[in-house]
Amino acid sequence: MPTTCVVGILWGDEGKGKVIDYLAADADYVVRFGGGHNAGHTLYLPSGKLVLHLVPSGIVHPHTVNVIGNGVVVDPVHLCGEIDRLIERGIAVELGRNLLLSERAHVIVEAHRLQDAWGEGVRSGGKIGTTGRGVGPAYSDRCARIGLRLGDLVDPARLDRALANLVEQKNAWFGPAGIPLLDAAAMRNTLLAAGDRLRAGIGDTGKLLRDASAAGKRILLEGAQGCLLDLEHGTYPFVTSSHASTGGAYSGSGLPPHEMRTVGIVKAYATRVGEGPFPSELKDDTGDRLRVAGKEFGSTTGRPRRCGWFDSVAVRYSGAVSGATELVLTNLDVLRGFDPLRVVVGYRLPDGSKTTDFPAFELERLTPEFAELPGFTEDLQQVRRFEDLPPNARGYVEAIERHTGIAVRTISVGPERQQVILR
Ligand code: IMP
Repeated sequence: MPTTCVVGILWGDEGKGKVIDYLAADADYVVRFGGGHNAGHTLYLPSGKLVLHLVPSGIVHPHTVNVIGNGVVVDPVHLCGEIDRLIERGIAVELGRNLLLSERAHVIVEAHRLQDAWGEGVRSGGKIGTTGRGVGPAYSDRCARIGLRLGDLVDPARLDRALANLVEQKNAWFGPAGIPLLDAAAMRNTLLAAGDRLRAGIGDTGKLLRDASAAGKRILLEGAQGCLLDLEHGTYPFVTSSHASTGGAYSGSGLPPHEMRTVGIVKAYATRVGEGPFPSELKDDTGDRLRVAGKEFGSTTGRPRRCGWFDSVAVRYSGAVSGATELVLTNLDVLRGFDPLRVVVGYRLPDGSKTTDFPAFELERLTPEFAELPGFTEDLQQVRRFEDLPPNARGYVEAIERHTGIAVRTISVGPERQQVILR
């Protein structure tokens, strides 16, 4: 396996956890390159359901080295808790052996969560619907060059210098904004304690990965969120604050841009959690039925996900931006009993003209145009070969390939590891 990057194609929640888990069986390194504990990657293991937020999904495979790359924003208190919960579940997590953390990764502190809530409260243009984990403000501080990095937590003098910068700038406006002021001494204690706990895992993961790549090791880059939540290419401003598409895999891991196989994960229908435009959204009974059938509730916040039809215009755009040469189609089994099935094939713009490109603006004013396909009533969960799918399910997959121009190589027909069809 060459270096492989797995990205969500729409707004996240495509079922990346299961795919990474499946691909990690053949990987030496599994690397998170962006986002923070806003992500929720769900695995269905023989021992039951496991939701990972920050720790890469390869952690359940004893042979893989898992890396939290420099592009991730890390809440160190959350990370210590997540490691504890994994160990309680009987999963071996050893910092410095199978879990490594970039010293360059930026740190989320309590103030970022307060700032996240404050920012949502004062937005006159409508809430983003953030996960409230402080992810956006932590990335803002990184850009403003006042952030703390994981490497600061293992050196008290370095931490003091970095904290002084952060506290000075934040408190200058937190007071007038009504956000509780930062207390540098209290923060210092919390951060040094977390640094002590995480110390053995913190280091130069970029060099490690470049060396591993040069030595021919198999590296799997685990995307978080999805291409339409990418800060640059997504449905701005209703996006997350990281580069969730493939571009972020290079900058967020420290690997140089070289050839990479990019696998796009997409559901057989579309979902979105949080606010923002969603051209194929179903605000009717069909959308409610999809939510129930697909158990579409956020794995991080528990919020109900908005549901809609498969959108081939959006998928083609994200596929092009991410360089995905193949798709993994998840949740095909969920569409059982929906008839007809619909797939977006174009948009009508507010001025009446038509497009098959994904616009940067006024997405909420588009009218989607659909192709209709006959549905299927059979249970797909036991099917393991494409030829054994009912003809209408096969026809649906082939229509998706036709309309997106991207091959569907893998189909997931249930939450369990083995419920997969490889083509
Ligand atoms: P933030 O990343 O918490 O700032 O939230 C920004 C937007 O991204 C909101 O609409 C969130 O619901 C969405 N978002 C963030 N992380 C995820 C995820 O892992 N899955 C789906 N949506 C997400």
